[in-house]
This record gives sequence, structure tokens and C-alpha cells, in this order.
Amino acid sequence: MSRPALLALDQGTTSSRALVFDETGRVIATAQEEFAQGYPQPGWVEHDPEVIWATVLSTARKAMSAAETQGWAIQAIGVTNQRETTLVWDRETGQPIHNAIVWQDRRTAKTCADLRAEGAEALVRDRAGLVLDPYFSASKLAYILDSVPGARAKAEAGKLAFGTVDSFLIWRLTGGRVHITDATNASRTSLYALEAADWDEELLRLFNVPRAVLPDVVDSAGRYGETESSILGRAIPICAAAGDQQAAALGQACLHPGEVKSTYGTGAFLLVNTGDAPVRSENRLLATTAWRLKGQSAFALEGSILSAGATVQWLRDGLGMIARSSEIEALAQSADPDCGVYLVPAFSGLGAPHWDPDARGLLCGLSRGAGRAEIARAALDSTVYQTQDLLTAVASDGVDVRTLKVDGGMAVNDALMQRLADICAVETVRPVNAEATAWGAAFLAGLGIGMFSELSEAATLWQAERAFAPQLEDAVRQRQMAGWHDAVRRTLS
Ligand code: G3P
Repeated sequence: MSRPALLALDQGTTSSRALVFDETGRVIATAQEEFAQGYPQPGWVEHDPEVIWATVLSTARKAMSAAETQGWAIQAIGVTNQRETTLVWDRETGQPIHNAIVWQDRRTAKTCADLRAEGAEALVRDRAGLVLDPYFSASKLAYILDSVPGARAKAEAGKLAFGTVDSFLIWRLTGGRVHITDATNASRTSLYALEAADWDEELLRLFNVPRAVLPDVVDSAGRYGETESSILGRAIPICAAAGDQQAAALGQACLHPGEVKSTYGTGAFLLVNTGDAPVRSENRLLATTAWRLKGQSAFALEGSILSAGATVQWLRDGLGMIARSSEIEALAQSADPDCGVYLVPAFSGLGAPHWDPDARGLLCGLSRGAGRAEIARAALDSTVYQTQDLLTAVASDGVDVRTLKVDGGMAVNDALMQRLADICAVETVRPVNAEATAWGAAFLAGLGIGMFSELSEAATLWQAERAFAPQLEDAVRQRQMAGWHDAVRRTLS
């Protein structure tokens, strides 16, 4: 008799991953494929949709077959994804009409600045919970419709489909039968009204997006459809979708107001549960849907750091300073801990709380004694300092944070986690299940298929692996943060 398992498809910014979990959240099989990033112009970032699809398929097949040979049977699929990344495809041929425009892409900065100058920021904030920034899908979608010849007319005639990556994958997995997106992904487009939990006519008008291109917005768990049987060998129910950061918040069991997680991937994203009402930030954080189940939305306050793991990749690929990302921990630890070197990784502008798409990176505080180690340390510290800036903003918005739950690739770095606890002066906790994002999606799929019946089961299955207690003297902390703020000021446009 085969044992029941769940398949999570985690389509991220730099790789596609597939993970099979048992009912307790234990990983049974994984597969991962990195793929190329397209940088057609400075500030532009694209993905080839066919590469996204091919890597999702091949990792799904590998993970499934590894699990099945061990006697596991996939009951349901949950999709989780890099958010905001924008795709448009032809409903008839299934072919994308443009490369995917990635969340990091800044090409629509001017459109957003013009809308801001027209006074549109308040509408976007009040309705969508977001700031006016090229990060979100709406301006990217309008750009595609305006730059591909004939696209706008076809869109208005209902011949084109828009989707974030969840939507595109579900559409392809179901053989073009299902065009949906879940509420968490919808909440990142800038076209979705948080409280009304639907697309918003005024936002559609603001960004000049025809309603005919949009997917239906659904709950984050439910029976959406089945995979076309030729794709994964048989028809499998697709039962969940959630943006990767929201999935991680669930995987980290941030189920109650004030519970917070920070995920260190390509970027880093801190989400605080705010319960059944969105909190409109006074400090340029985002209000976002955390999940929507049985029509009921839960909300989160989010701080977005645009470059975290990407900063380490830059040291590896841009500077050739390390051969593998994992080497950075030892290198950074060999630096003078108080060397005064700061790296502001504003490679594609700065996210929260600055939201400055034109800010550019800076390395400063170099003395003759500074070398690779000090630069490596400054790179890691930039993620820590930015997290502290987000926690300050969260506190100013009136949300009290006691423990910071961490996950993502960089969370394996013990020294970095200790530094986070020190600079943020908050207990930092890493879970046993390091796969918070994929597990969150698998858990939602388990809810959708009826393997789990309550959200609270996510908390029962969550366990701490290690806690890092703050140890740094407050005066040192204050001085280092002041140095960081001084460096950031110099990068702002
Ligand atoms: O908002 C962008 C975010 O979803 C990307 O996540 O894990 O690919 O850095 P990640």
C-alpha cells in the first residue's frame, strides 16, 4: 500500500524546485534546477517562460518518481512562486507574447513616478495596500500590452491571459483549462482590493489594464483542477497556490497577530501576521493578503529587501571573490567585526522602507586594511541592517514583535543568524523544517485535499531547531546602525 504525500512546486527567482512531503512535513524527495536570468538592459530582468515551465516539469517529475519508488503516492499539488513576476500569453496558442518581466525589473519606474506625481499613491495604498513602485505587476502588465504590437487590442478582445507565475503554471498544468490566481498572488499585482478581495475597477483604470486579461481570484487552498494526465503521468489534483513569502509565513506557523518570519532568499521578506484586518503602514511597509481560506482573508504587514542572497551571488559571480556561496560565512568571520565597512546592495534600487528604484549600490568605509573578508562581512551585514530597518518600521506601525522566525538559504549561516539577533535585539529562531516556503504550499494543498482540517495543525507540526539570543552591547549596535544609515543616505536618488 502506498503512503500519502504532497508535492510542492516552488518556482523561485533563480531556480525551480519540487519537494515531496509526508503528512508531518518531513521531506521525502527534492529536485532543483537553476536557470538563466536575462538582463536585456540595466535595471531590466527577464525570465524565459518556456524555461520556467521546462524546469518546473522536470523537477516535478524527478521528485515525484523519487518519492514513488519509495512507496509514496502524491495526493495533491501545491504551487508557490516568486511573486509579482508578470506573464502574458495567448489563450488560443498558449504561447507567451513576451518574456516574463521579473519582480526585480525597474523598467516601469517612470510610469510609477508619473502616477505618483498625479497623486495616485493614496488610492494604491488604501485599496491595494501597496506603494507605487515598479516592483508590482500592474505597470509591468501595461508595459507588455503597450510594447508588443497588437497586444492591447487582443487583450481587450479577451484573447490574451495575464498571470503571475502561479497562474501561468496552473494554466499549463491543467492543459489550459484553468485560469486562476490565488488571493496572495493577486494582492501583489496592485490591481486587487484587499478588503473587497477582488480586482478593483479604479486600479484597473489607473494602470490601464483591461479586465478581460485577468484570472479569477480563488482561495489559497481548494480543488482548482487536475493536471492534464500526459504531463505528470496521471491526473493529480492541484489544491493550493500561494506567493512564496506568504507560503513561508504559513510554513513557519505565523498564524496569530504579531507572529513574524523573515525569509532570506534572492531577496529577503519579513512578514508579520496582522490577523483578519490589513494594517495600512505609516512607514512604507506593505499590507498584503497572508492567505485566503473559505473566502476569509488573513493579512500581513510586509517589509521587502530586494537584495539578500543576490548580494552574495554578486560577490561570487560579479566579483569572483568566492567560488561557492557557502564560503562567505568563514570569510566574513575572519573580518574585523568592527571594521566600519558598509555595502549598500541597491543593485535594483532599494525596497522598504525607502522604495527608491533609482538608488544604486555603494561600498564605503574602506581603509587600507579592508579586504575580501571585510567586504564579505559588509555584504552579510547589509541584510541584517535592512532587517532591523524593517523591524523598526513594524514597531512604528504599532506591531509588537518578540521573536523572529527565520528561513531561506542564508538562514543556515549560524554567524549571520547570531548577528541578526544582535543587531535586531530580538530572539531569532530557526525551525527544524528548513523548507518553510515549500512546506507552506504543501500544507495548503493538504488542507485543500482534506488531509488536514485546521490551519492550527501547521503550528502543531512546527518545531524550533535553534534559538539565537541577542548578545551585543547596545552602544555598539547603535553605532553600527548609525554607520549603516549614513551609507544608505548616500545611495538615495
Ligand atoms: O516578491 C518576490 C519574492 O516572491 C521572490 O522570492 O524567494 O525568489 O527571492 P525569492
